[in-house]
Amino acid sequence: MTTIPVILDVDTGVDDALAILFAVAHPDIEVLGISCVAGNASLERVVDNTLRILDTIDAPDIPVAAGARRPLIEPARDASHVHGEGGLGTLRLPPSERTAVPVSSVELMHSLLQDSARPVTLVALAPQTNLALLLRQYPDIASKIERIVFMGGSASVGNATAVAEFNVWHDPEAAAIVLDSGVPTYMYGLDVFNRVAVDEATATALLSHETLVGRTVGSLLTNRVFAGTDAETHHSGLIGDAGAVCALVDPGALYTEIRPVRVELAGYGRGQTLVDMRSRPGEDAMHGTADVWETAEIALDVDASRLATLFLDTLGLA
Ligand code: BDR
Ligand code: CA
Repeated sequence: MTTIPVILDVDTGVDDALAILFAVAHPDIEVLGISCVAGNASLERVVDNTLRILDTIDAPDIPVAAGARRPLIEPARDASHVHGEGGLGTLRLPPSERTAVPVSSVELMHSLLQDSARPVTLVALAPQTNLALLLRQYPDIASKIERIVFMGGSASVGNATAVAEFNVWHDPEAAAIVLDSGVPTYMYGLDVFNRVAVDEATATALLSHETLVGRTVGSLLTNRVFAGTDAETHHSGLIGDAGAVCALVDPGALYTEIRPVRVELAGYGRGQTLVDMRSRPGEDAMHGTADVWETAEIALDVDASRLATLFLDTLGLA
C-alpha cells in the first residue's frame, strides 16, 4: 500500500496525544506536519505537549506550527476539567528540544499542501479554527486536499452540551465553513468516539510497560480526570481522537452513511451537528422550504474492539 499523506490539526490533549502516537507509528501514514490550535488547553500548552509527545515516540523531524489562540468569534474555553491543567492528564514528560516552526499553522498547511505531489488528507482532531482560516485565506488550496477527516460532532448525543460535541461547539462557525467548503468530509463523531476503548486491565498493565511509549499510552488511557462513572463520562481506556486516525487505515471497521449535515449556530443548539437521517423527503422539501445542506460521510457504527486492537498492535503493545 502506498502511504497516506496527512496533516494533523490538534489541541493536544489526551486524545490527540494518542492520535499522534498512532499516526507516527503506522507504516501506511505519512505525517507531513502538525498544526496546533487552542482547544483542550491553551495554544502554548498544546504546542508544548505536541512536541513532548513526538519525543516519546522518537518521531522524525515533523514540522509543528502554532495556529489560532481562540475561535473565530468566541473566547477560548479549555477542557482542563477533562484533560487536566496541563492537557495530558497526570502525565508528566520532560521538556523537548524540538521547537515549533516560525510560521503560523495556516502558512505551514498551505506550503505543505502546495508542495505535495499527492492530495493530502487533513485530519482535524480539534476545533476547526485553523482549517477555516486556511480555506478562507487560500480557497484554491482545496484542490490539493484529498478530504477532511474530523473528530467532531455527533448524530446523537453531545458532550459539551446535550446536543453539541466539544470540537464543533468550541468553534461552530469554523466547523460550518469546513463543512460548506466543498472538500469531501468524513465525520468521526461521538457516536463512535465514545465506544472505542482498550479494556481496563490492558490499559492498567501498560503503566508498567517496558517501553516509554507503552507507559505513556498507559498513562493517557487510564489517567483521565474523570467527570463521572456513566458510559458517556467514564472515559477510562478510550483511544479518543486516535480512532479517527485508525479509520484512515481500516475504514472497513466502521459503518458510514453519506448524509446531509449542518452546524447549528444559534440558540441552545449552537454547535450541534444536525444530521438528516430521514430515508425519504419530508414536507419541508415538498413545500419548498428546505435549505440545501452539504453532505458528509458520517461514521455511525464501529467495530470497537477491531479499532482498539489496531491501535495497540500498531504501537507494539498488543
Ligand atoms: C473531543 O474534544 C476534545 O476534548 C478531545 O480532544 C476530542 O477531540 C471530544 O469531544
Ligand atoms: Ca482533540
